[in-house]
Amino acid sequence: MTALREAGHRVTVVDAGHPGAHRVPPPDTVAGAPVLRLDLRDRPAVADALAGVDAVIHQAAMVGLGVDLDDLPEYVGCNDLGTAVLLAAMARAGVPRLVLASSMVVYGEGSYTCPEHGSVSAAPRVVAHLAAGRFEPPCPVCGAALDPGLISEDAPLDPRSVYAATKVAQEHLTAAWARQTGGTVVALRYHNVYGPGMPRDTPYSGVAAIFRSALEVGRAPRVFEDGGQRRDFVHVRDVAAANLAALDATVTRSGWRAYNIASGRPATVGQMASELARAAGGPPPIVTGEFRLGDVRHIVASPARAGSELGFRAAVDLADGVAEFACAPLRG
Ligand code: UD1
Repeated sequence: MTALREAGHRVTVVDAGHPGAHRVPPPDTVAGAPVLRLDLRDRPAVADALAGVDAVIHQAAMVGLGVDLDDLPEYVGCNDLGTAVLLAAMARAGVPRLVLASSMVVYGEGSYTCPEHGSVSAAPRVVAHLAAGRFEPPCPVCGAALDPGLISEDAPLDPRSVYAATKVAQEHLTAAWARQTGGTVVALRYHNVYGPGMPRDTPYSGVAAIFRSALEVGRAPRVFEDGGQRRDFVHVRDVAAANLAALDATVTRSGWRAYNIASGRPATVGQMASELARAAGGPPPIVTGEFRLGDVRHIVASPARAGSELGFRAAVDLADGVAEFACAPLRG
């Protein structure tokens, strides 16, 4: 919000105040921009909110693995029905530009190479392997250990959780909308976002917020598996900069295009926990060996396309970002 307003945009925020993301209702303004409290599934309210609007940045979604499959209708309702209502209203109102917050979860497991069989796609992990502490996905052909690598936007989509499936559906719905309306969509596949203002620990929070929330009350971060799972932690100010670049690109580009939004500097979850604990002066992480079936092992990306086509390059160094995040306030 701050970045948009600093760039001279007039902004209205729409927020449903969903209890999965908010413990307290959202404020009436964010960084000076008015907040409309509405659910994207509310057709008349969405139509009204689009009056005078020339572009939409669609960040609204239920994220994470959730609690259990009872969450499934709400994920699909918020993420896919909500997107469908928004797209229909944009088409009716003649709003032609959309930035979509997508996610690296659309890929499923990251990119892997087998020393014998070259580039392979890792099969979904199974409970028996995970329970035995075998966290690395094996080569689907020979069972050998695989080397994880950087994934590019051309990789096939292979969602492995309900949330991931709803994000793939958002991508497909927005692509269909772009084709039918002649509008432009820039889809940003966020990697693991962290930074000031993240919501506190909920079943829908990402790992950085969970670790930060634990440290705030003096508890050690609990690192699942063996802590060696790789992610790309990208700072929220870099994500804001990527959104600005994407918004500009909706003027110059046409059609639908996806971009990894990543720092290009992978880290393990164990490293993130250790650095955050050190920066917060809290207890060191505990590696628990627990696992969640919907989690993927490694997912790190090439940021090259966003660099060459959007001019986006992450600027915040992980150590600096973590030091700031360790003391920054979380959102209620
Ligand atoms: C996360 C987000 C996802 C978002 C994506 C890209 C969540 C839950 N996940 O996916 O919504 O689209 O980044 O921005 O918001 N872990 C621990 N300890 C914990 C919790 C998790 O070690 O207390 C581990 C998990 O086992 C996993 C890793 O941390 O290996 C990352 O977990 P998480 O942030 O939940 O999910 P991502 O799949 O990375």
